[in-house]
Amino acid sequence: MELIVLSKEEMKRVAGEKAVDLIEDGMTIGLGTGSTVFWAIKKLGQRMKEGLRIQAIPTSKNTQTLAEQHGIPLTSFKEISQLDFTIDGADEINPQLQLIKGGGGALLREKLVAIQSRRLIIVADHSKFVPTLGAFPLPIEIVPFAWECTAKRIENLGCRPILRMDKNKPFVTDNKNYVLDCCFGTINQPTELHQRLKLLHGVIETGLFIGGVSCVILGDGQGAKMIENKEAQS
Ligand code: 5RP
Repeated sequence: MELIVLSKEEMKRVAGEKAVDLIEDGMTIGLGTGSTVFWAIKKLGQRMKEGLRIQAIPTSKNTQTLAEQHGIPLTSFKEISQLDFTIDGADEINPQLQLIKGGGGALLREKLVAIQSRRLIIVADHSKFVPTLGAFPLPIEIVPFAWECTAKRIENLGCRPILRMDKNKPFVTDNKNYVLDCCFGTINQPTELHQRLKLLHGVIETGLFIGGVSCVILGDGQGAKMIENKEAQS
């Protein structure tokens, strides 16, 4: 038997494409952000050319542009309130299928889209699957005004917040906010940490996605493997 060994980019591609196999005619789909979702959008564009009919809501301006380039019809929450499912990436995934997201800075819209979705499908290469969250600095979207004070409040919870930069200016999200990348070290209690952060003045959203993931599709050296969250099935 021939042994196939995929590169990291191929692992992302197989994961992204497998998620698109789940899409059926007439569905409404949330489109996440990032280099793994890129492959899903590309494959979805091919399926549209073959006659698939769906509507999608993007989680970022980058994804909106990409979806338009691939001929995917977009809609908005003015028109619909419920999506059949969302395909999105992640920066870290633990065995409970809790996530750190926001490496691309789209965490707020990603969360707003995810919670309107019947199913959340996460696509990633297998290096994102970790025993505990926290090696990846936690992105937190904050109000720009008095950001230094918000950063101090977050720091008091036991981390080192770093203002995300874009060249020599603060990185600004699609919602015109800032992002702090926060090194907490190992996050043993993600739910508690998320709740404590959300109570701080100036914090808009955290990159901790706790609960609600229906399934993770991981690309590895041999192909794509699905990890189903039985508790999240509707
Ligand atoms: C963007 C995200 C991305 O989904 C996450 O950063 C993973 O991206 P990639 O697939 O490029 O590794 O949360 O805000």
